[in-house]
Amino acid sequence: MDGHFTILGLESSCDDTAAAVLRGRRILSSVVADQTALHAAYGGVVPEIAARAHAEKLDHCVEQALEEAGTALGDIDAIAVTAGPGLIGGVLSGVMMAKGLAAATGKPLIGVNHLAGHALTPRLSDGLAYPYLILLVSGGHCQFLRVDGPTEFTRLGSTIDDAPGEAFDKTARLLGLPQPGGPSVEHHAAQGDETRFTFPRPLLDRDGCDLSFSGLKTALLRQRDALIADQGGLHPQDVNDLCAGFQAAVRDVVVEKSRRALSASDGISGFAVAGGVAANSALRSALKALCASRDIPFIAPPLALCTDNAAMIAYAGGEIFAERGGDDLGLSARPRWPLDKRAPAALGSGRKGAKA
Ligand code: KG4
Ligand code: ZN
Repeated sequence: MDGHFTILGLESSCDDTAAAVLRGRRILSSVVADQTALHAAYGGVVPEIAARAHAEKLDHCVEQALEEAGTALGDIDAIAVTAGPGLIGGVLSGVMMAKGLAAATGKPLIGVNHLAGHALTPRLSDGLAYPYLILLVSGGHCQFLRVDGPTEFTRLGSTIDDAPGEAFDKTARLLGLPQPGGPSVEHHAAQGDETRFTFPRPLLDRDGCDLSFSGLKTALLRQRDALIADQGGLHPQDVNDLCAGFQAAVRDVVVEKSRRALSASDGISGFAVAGGVAANSALRSALKALCASRDIPFIAPPLALCTDNAAMIAYAGGEIFAERGGDDLGLSARPRWPLDKRAPAALGSGRKGAKA
């Protein structure tokens, strides 16, 4: 992408309203307004509440992003927007806003697949060369993708039920720990014994790179209930040990499936991770060790770029625009939009919306 090309990006597919201004690979601003407090009482994202909040916040986020970047709308060369997959009310809010801006300014409009935004992030953060392998692990996604170009993705495997972040969040809920569950479970796991309780390693007996996490939560529930029946409650050390056993099972499954995905990926320049669960240090260090043992660069972009943001949408928009130009004002919002059109649809629907 031309280093002077300036793109405004919009993201509203889940529970973060975001706007960013990018010039080449330089992030001039990246504003993220999260909706955690709005959904806290419901134990998950409520689509209607999310859509309304996006509609209210998008223009403020755009104004703030332009101001922080020191740019005016007239200085923008193109407008990129998440056009799916995600919660349809939120995606529609973003697409309508982007169309309005494109119509008013006469600038090109680029519809971006949210997952492409995540998948191209290691190019924004580290300039990683094509082709590469990426693992997306968050509260709504879990898939291995081989990335050969801005619109060329091959899915090597994905979860057949829950996303790992969802499993961390449910585990925390079952143990009475605060949300989001990932950081709480990681904290307790650090003081626990991962060998005390037995957790399954789902799908390791099956060929390929698909993953499954819903059985881990059932295993946790069974062991928790057995302890309560036995001793009338949970001791702090029980909670720590259950967290450690659960986290070790997630780590082992993800590492083994990553090993297989790497074996199936010829000529890649590196292995990258993105998504909130990539913040887990046990998982990160195990994946780093796996890559070191195979002499493959391991790339973990900064967390602010791994979780939902609009800089990744602006960046992906720039690459897509350079390859195939923009979209017209007929651009549709798509609740489902698989990156790899040849792969069968992934099963399940994550806590944070439909999976591609
Ligand atoms: O990518 P993200 O911010 O949002 C979407 O899902 O789109 O990911 C959020 C998820 C939550 O489920 C959270 O519990 C999980 O990432 N997470 C973690 C950690 N930090 C966040 N999971 C495990 N370990 C962590 N340290
Ligand atoms: Zn996401």
